[in-house]
Amino acid sequence: MTVIAVFNQKGGVGKTTSTANLAAAMARNNLEPLMIDLDPQAHLTMLCGVEVPADQSVYAFFQEKAGLSDLVRQLSNRVNLIPSHMELARVDVLMSQNQKSLRKLRRGMQEEMLADSGCPVLIDCCPMLGVLSLSALIAADVILVPVTAEYLALNGAHQLENTLRGLTAMGLYRPRRYFLNRYIRGHPSGEKVGHELSKRYGKEFCRTKIYESQNVMEGVGAHQDVFSFAPDSEGAEDFAFLLDELVESGFIRV
Ligand SMILES: Nc1ncnc2c1ncn2[C@@H]1O[C@H](COP(=O)(O)OP(=O)(O)OP(=O)(O)O)[C@@H](O)[C@H]1O
Ligand SMILES: [Mg+2]
Repeated sequence: MTVIAVFNQKGGVGKTTSTANLAAAMARNNLEPLMIDLDPQAHLTMLCGVEVPADQSVYAFFQEKAGLSDLVRQLSNRVNLIPSHMELARVDVLMSQNQKSLRKLRRGMQEEMLADSGCPVLIDCCPMLGVLSLSALIAADVILVPVTAEYLALNGAHQLENTLRGLTAMGLYRPRRYFLNRYIRGHPSGEKVGHELSKRYGKEFCRTKIYESQNVMEGVGAHQDVFSFAPDSEGAEDFAFLLDELVESGFIRV
């Protein structure tokens, strides 16, 4: 089964929203997904309507006070979540970027069989390349990169390429897929960024685009994935199609 890091160094491109909605799409296909909120902003945790003290969050794992599996909670949409807490910011500050700390998450997942459990794991990363995000890239089998139709988001994807080249040199090649989020049909910058992504990444660029969607946005505010908030909406259809494409192309193994 696949461990997916959802990452782009650029903030606000839809990492959290995509993690939640892709996981919801998986749950609808009876895949029992697990999401790990690895962002001290804890936006994914909030989106799910969850609030926990630091010692019940993923921070406790990095402090060696809890195993990953102790921290899992089941949500009403049949998605599992390991929540975050703002204290998690300490990990980036306190843990130096040595090999041991960067591999802690990967080791934890392997030891507790989360990676082999048969359930897909989605890691929502923070918009910064520090210990937390590098840990996620190392723990992941594949990297999923949302890109919005703006130059800085494209640049974030480009910076990620350099990081992934570094990991490949360490023997840690990670397949990746890029997709366009918040796409507005006919909008010139959307067309331009889509064209640029297709030219740069070829088959690594998903055919499925996630359109700018009021339902997706309002679902976030209502602490709901788009399938629960507006099951018949285009937003729900987009995420169902994105999952189909990722599974059919073999990027996500089910
Ligand atoms: N397809 C979409 N349609 C409409 N709104 C969207 C869509 N995707 C994301 N958004 C909105 O864009 C904002 C940023 O999304 P999100 O928080 O998921 O980005 P992020 O990359 O996780 O941000 P950060 O880098 O801060 O973690 C949110 O308000 C979210 O509701
Ligand atoms: Mg986020």
